[in-house]
Parts: sequence; C-alpha cells; structure tokens
Amino acid sequence: MQIQSNFSLRNFNTFGLESTASFFAEVGSVEELTEILRDPLWQQTAKFILGGGSNVLFTQNVNALVIHPAMKGIDKIEEDKDHIWLKVGAGESWHGFVMHCVEHNYGGVENLSLIPGTVGAAPMQNIGAYGVEIKDVVESVETVSIDEGQKRIFSNKECEFGYRESIFKKALKNQFVVTGVTFVLNKKPVINVGYGDVQKTLAEMNVSNPTIADVSQAIITIRRSKLPDPAQIGNAGSFFKNPEISSEQYNSLKQLFPEMPGYTVSETMVKVPAGWLIEQAGWKGYRQGSIGVHQKQALVLVNYGGGNGNEIRELAGTIQLSVETKYGIRLSPEVNFI
Ligand code: EPU
Repeated sequence: MQIQSNFSLRNFNTFGLESTASFFAEVGSVEELTEILRDPLWQQTAKFILGGGSNVLFTQNVNALVIHPAMKGIDKIEEDKDHIWLKVGAGESWHGFVMHCVEHNYGGVENLSLIPGTVGAAPMQNIGAYGVEIKDVVESVETVSIDEGQKRIFSNKECEFGYRESIFKKALKNQFVVTGVTFVLNKKPVINVGYGDVQKTLAEMNVSNPTIADVSQAIITIRRSKLPDPAQIGNAGSFFKNPEISSEQYNSLKQLFPEMPGYTVSETMVKVPAGWLIEQAGWKGYRQGSIGVHQKQALVLVNYGGGNGNEIRELAGTIQLSVETKYGIRLSPEVNFI
C-alpha cells in the first residue's frame, strides 16, 4: 500500500474544493487497513476517513492521514425464498450497488438511485430519499476501530439510525472505519411510490404497473431535473437538514405564512422543507462569484468552479441567519464541515 504526502483532495470531494491532506492512503482490504492502523509509525498521527466525499465541506487543509476505504465486492451471504443478504465493500459506489440490485430484481434500494458517494459512507448519515432510508435495508455494518484496528460488527439497532444520523456521527464519531455493509433485500419487491413526484413521473413514462427498474428510472429522471450533477457543478446534495419544529410553532407560523408546507412526523412534531424556507427568504439562484444557491433546488449550495470552502461556509451562515430572522427556525447543516 502506498502512502502519499501532500495529496490534493480536490477529486475526492463532490464540491470540487481544494484541500491538501498531509498523508493519503487508499486501503483496498480490511487487512491493509488494520496493518496501517496498528503500525506504530502512524499511531500518533491523526486519522481522517474519507469515502466519496459527497457530504463534506473542506474549509482548510487536512493535517492528518486521510484513509480512503476502497474495499470492493458484492457477495451473497445468505438467501431464503423471500430475501437475499448481500455483503458490499465500503469502496463500492452507492449507485453502482443500487444498479446491481435493480438488474437482479432485488427490491429495497431502488428509491435511493443516483445518490452520490460510497457504500461505506451511506450508513454514517443514514442516506435517504423518496420515502426510503438505508436503515430500512441494513442488516449490519462491518467496521474497524481507528484506535486499535479491531474489527467490530454493528447490528442495525446498534447503529442508532435517525434522520440523517447514526451512532457514527454522534457518540462514536471518528472512532470507526466502515469496511462493509450487509443489506437484506427483497426477492419479491414491494413498490414504494407514495412520495413526491414519483407517481407523476411514472405516469409521464406511461408506466401503470411499475417494476423496481421503472421506479429507479423515474427517480433518476427526477433527481437529474432538480439536482446538479457534481461532475458538472460542485455540490454536496442537500446542504441543510429539513428542520423539525413543534406543532404549536408550526401552527402559529401557518397563521403568518399560510403557504408554508409541513409534514407531520409525530403527534407533536412537524418537518418543514428547508428548501422552501431558503427559497422564500430569497436565496434560490443567488450567486456570489464562484459559489451560490442552486437555481432549481434552494437546499443545494454550489461551487461553480474555483470557489472555496470558507466562502460556502459564510454563505451558509448568512442563509441560516436570514431564515432564522424571518421564521424563527434554525437550520442545521447536513454537510460535515472540515
Ligand atoms: N421546496 C421549495 N423550494 C426549493 C426546494 C424545495 O419550495 O427550492 C419545497 C417544495 O415544497 C417541495 C419540498 O420543498 O415540495 C420538498 O422538496 P424535495 O422533494 O426536493 O425534497 P427535499 O425535502 O428538499 C429531501 C432530501 C433529499 C432527497 C429528497 C427526496 C433532506 C435534507 N433532503 O429533500 O436528499 O433527495 O428529499 O426524497 O432530507 C440529500 O440529503 O443530499 C438529498 C438530496
């Protein structure tokens, strides 16, 4: 395994931001990973785990050994008449894995088509879209501890998944490297098209009895129409989470802003689309030099090329303040600031 120094991370983050890692190692196997984590030479060096870089905002250089998990493979672990269990290497592309499942008619992840990033990064923030989150299909998460290079498997429950959250972002932050994820998929797929524009897009495709391939295609179409392709315009998907507020706060805001959308999440809480709040505060399509707010989805901050992470961080702060002033709602970032 090669360890490179002064390594540019520009091609390792979907914002396309410049940042230099003191050291960089791509690890292709669990053995390579444990070897480096247990090596006394690297024991005192800070470590930073970087998957596909689709959810990070680099605001500075990374004075650490950056470890890029590149374990490959999609392997059948078990199968019964209804389900199949697949163990997938952390370095596999998420969308590539989704396409594998769609081709084999294994249901469960088709609504998560075209999400950028790697399989290993997916459980970190419990990626989700169109009514599905990966917590619905994760059996277990295989990891190695950064401190000691010990293997540990987390059951779905132990991952403590929440909305764009997991134990790996909270209590155990920066303590484990995900090396693989085992998924349980449905051999008799159940279609889930109740969310957003999926049904409408399928109708436009003239599909009345959708397969998971149709659902995947519809979602690819929707995402391409709203979300910028990171290969063309730097971005990290939704920059903020959709805030959850109390029903009381929602009801009083509704008096002032009757158009405000909201989705009931429990008896006492309502989720408000951050994209709506940001658009209403006047930011949609805003551009300042090389950075800005996407024209078609106000929740996505973009780097048109040559922008830097601090400019994006400042813009995010200004947006937060403006939404808070207008609505009394504090947005929290979904993206991890480095
Ligand atoms: N909206 C606006 N203006 C905008 C954007 C959105 O008014 O500029 C309003 C509309 O009312 C729309 C509603 O917000 O109906 C919801 O918008 P959309 O369906 O685009 O979804 P979202 O809530 O903005 C979430 C996820 C996305 C995921 C989509 C689809 C979060 C933070 N984001 O976005 O995930 O793809 O739903 O399920 O939960 C990501 O996490 O990076 C991501 C892209």
